[in-house]
Amino acid sequence: MKQRLEQLKTELHFHNYRYYVLNEPLIADAQYDALLLELQQLEAAHPEWVSADSPTQRVGAAPVSAFTTVTHSKPMLSLGNVFDDDELIAFDKRIADLLRAEGVLQNQAVAYNAEYKFDGVAVSLRYEQGLLVRGATRGDGLTGEDITSNVRTISSIPLRLQGEPSQWPAVLEVRGEVLMHRVDFERLNLAQSQRGEKVFVNPRNAAAGSLRQLDPRITAQRPLRFFAYGWGEIQLHAGQPTTEPFATQSAMLDWLAELGFPVDHHRRVLQGSDALMLFYQQTEAQRAELPYEIDGVVYKVNTLAHQELLGYVARAPRFAVAHKFPAQEMTTQLLGIDVQVGRTGAITPVARLEPVFVGGVTVTNATLHNEDEIRRKDVRVGDTVVVRRAGDVIPEVVAPILDLRPEGTQPFIFPTHCPVCGSTIERPIDEAIARCTGGLVCAAQRKQSLEHAVSRKALDVDGLGTKLIEQLVDTGRVKNLADLFTLNELELATYPRMGAKSAANVIQALTTAKTPPLARFIYALGIRHVGEATAKALAEHFSSLERLLQSSEEELLQIDDVGPVVAAEIIHFFAEAPNRAVLEQLHSVGVIPQAPEVASSEPVATAFSGKTVVLTGTLPTLSRPDAQALIEQAGGRVTGSVSKKTDMVVAGAEAGSKLVKAQSLGITILDESQLLHLLGS
Ligand code: IVH
Repeated sequence: MKQRLEQLKTELHFHNYRYYVLNEPLIADAQYDALLLELQQLEAAHPEWVSADSPTQRVGAAPVSAFTTVTHSKPMLSLGNVFDDDELIAFDKRIADLLRAEGVLQNQAVAYNAEYKFDGVAVSLRYEQGLLVRGATRGDGLTGEDITSNVRTISSIPLRLQGEPSQWPAVLEVRGEVLMHRVDFERLNLAQSQRGEKVFVNPRNAAAGSLRQLDPRITAQRPLRFFAYGWGEIQLHAGQPTTEPFATQSAMLDWLAELGFPVDHHRRVLQGSDALMLFYQQTEAQRAELPYEIDGVVYKVNTLAHQELLGYVARAPRFAVAHKFPAQEMTTQLLGIDVQVGRTGAITPVARLEPVFVGGVTVTNATLHNEDEIRRKDVRVGDTVVVRRAGDVIPEVVAPILDLRPEGTQPFIFPTHCPVCGSTIERPIDEAIARCTGGLVCAAQRKQSLEHAVSRKALDVDGLGTKLIEQLVDTGRVKNLADLFTLNELELATYPRMGAKSAANVIQALTTAKTPPLARFIYALGIRHVGEATAKALAEHFSSLERLLQSSEEELLQIDDVGPVVAAEIIHFFAEAPNRAVLEQLHSVGVIPQAPEVASSEPVATAFSGKTVVLTGTLPTLSRPDAQALIEQAGGRVTGSVSKKTDMVVAGAEAGSKLVKAQSLGITILDESQLLHLLGS
C-alpha cells in the first residue's frame, strides 16, 4: 500500500505538470480525480504516510495571524530600465565595451536572452532534495515574507520537481513571477462585486492581494499562475555535473522547464541591439493579445560567466536591463463627470480629467461605461483615479484611489433628464444602459443618427463632418436624413469654413449617395441591433425596401442573422409614423436604394486573391498544409522563400530568417489569428 501511495503521488505530480504547466493533459479530468481520490483514501487510512509534497496537501494549512520574515540566501534584485532605443544602444555598447576590455569578447555582438517582463509579483521558491520547502515574497530584496502555504496552492508550482531524483540539486531556489490572466481577473472581480467584496484595480494587484492572504484557503480559490525566469541559491550534490546547463541563461531556463516549472516560450537568444529592438517592437505589437499583462521586455547577457564578470551596481545587475513599454495606467484628477447621448439615446457617463500622458497619448476624457460601473467603483468628482489606455481601446477610468480621496466628495447622481433635450432618461430593468427617451426630438440623437447615416459603411457621403452636421441641425435646416438631400451648393457655402469648392463636393457626394446599395441604405437607417451584417442579410432576403417594409415577424425570423429581439426592433422601427414619413420623403427627394445583384458563380475576391504568401514558424493551431490549403482556397499562392514579390508572410513561433527578411522588405506580417480573421472576412 505504501508503494501504491508513492506511485500515486508520482503519477499525480506528473499529470498535474502535464495539465498546468504544459497545457497538454494525458488523461481526462475524471481519471485524474479518480487517482486523487484513491490517494486521499489511502492517506485517510494511514495518516502517518501523509507528506507535505503530497498532491492532496496543496490546501490545508491553517490561517496565520501574520507572515514570518525570511532572509533570502541570495538577494532578490531589481532591474535598471531603458525607455528608448538610444538608451538601449548605450546599454549594449557599455556591455560590449566591458566584455571586450575583459578580453572575453572580440568583434561579435553580445548575445542576450530576451524575455518578457511579467507584470505580477516576484517570488522565490526553495526546493530541498527536490521538495518545495519555502515560498517567499521579494520584500526589500534582502528579507521577504514567508508565503509557503499560499504558493503551495498555485497549481503550476511544483510541490516536487519533475525528473529523476538523482538529477535534482540538493538546494534550488527558483525565482519568478506570480500573475493572473486577464480573463481570470475579470471573472474574479465580477464574483467579488456580486458578493459585495473588494474589487481589484488590475491583475497585478489581484495577484499581490491573493498572495498576501493570511488564509491559504482564500489564496487557493484565486486563479494564480507562475512563470520562472531566474534562480537564487543552487547547491549541487557531490558528483553532479557543473557544466550543462550552467553556461547560459537560456540553458538554465530550459533546465528549469525540465524540472517542471512553467517557463515562458516567447524568450529568444538574440545578438546585438538591432535584434533586441525588433524583439521589443514585435512584443509590443502582440502585447494586447497575450492572456497576461507584461510591462516591457528584459534583456540578460546570455553567457553566465559574462554575467559574473559584469557584476552588480547597487541592487541591480549590470548584465540585465528592463526595456519598459509606455505605461498603460496612470493616475490623475477627476475634474467632472458629463454624460453623452448616443445615436440610440444611450447615455454614457464620461470622465473629464486633468490631462495625463498614458498609453502613448495625452488623455483628457475617459469612459465610465454606465451607472452601475460608477456605483461599483464608487468614483467621485475630486477623486484621484487610475486611468487606463491599452492599445487603441477607448481610455477608461479603472478605479479611484480611496486613500487619496479629499473630504466632502459626494457619490455621483445619475441624471434623470437628458442634458440635451430634457426628455426623461429611462433604464429598462435588467439593462445596464440608460437611454434618453426623446428619440428624434433630441438634437443629440438626431446629430448622431445623421452622422451614422452618412458614415463610410452607410451612405458614405464625404465631406459631411461632425461640425457641419451640428450646424445644420442647430440652425434647424436639417431635421432628418431626407432634409440632407434638399441642400444646395449656395446655401451650404454660407456655413462657416465652407467654401464654394467644398460645398460643391458635398453636394456631389450627396448626389452619388442617392443610389446606395440596399444593404447600406438599411444600415444607414440606424435601426437598433441592425449592424452591417444584418443589413446585408435583410437586403439579400427581401431585395427591395418595399418588401422589407411589408415583412412580418415570422418572415424576419427565417433569416439567419435575425432573432426575436432584432425582429421586434425592425417591426417597431417601420411601424413608427415619423420613420415612415422620412422614408417617403427620402423617396420623393430621389433616394432610391439599389437591389443587390444576384449572386454569380464568379469567385469572390478575398484578401488573398492573386497574392503570394510565405508561411514560416509553427502556428499555434493550424498545421502548415492546412494553412496552405486555406490560403489557396481563398485564391492565394503559397511559396517557400521570401522575396520582393512576396505579398504577405504568416509567422508563427520560432520564425527565423524568413521573418527577419520580410521585416526588412517591409512585407505585411500576419500571425495565425490575423490570418484566420482575413480568411473569414
Ligand atoms: S530578472 C537579475 N526577469 O521585474 C534581475 N525580472 O525590476 C532580477 N520581472 O522584481 C529580475 N519579469 O518581479 C527578471 N523576465 C524577468 C522578469 C522580471 C518580471 C520583475 C521582477 C522583478 C522586477 C525587476
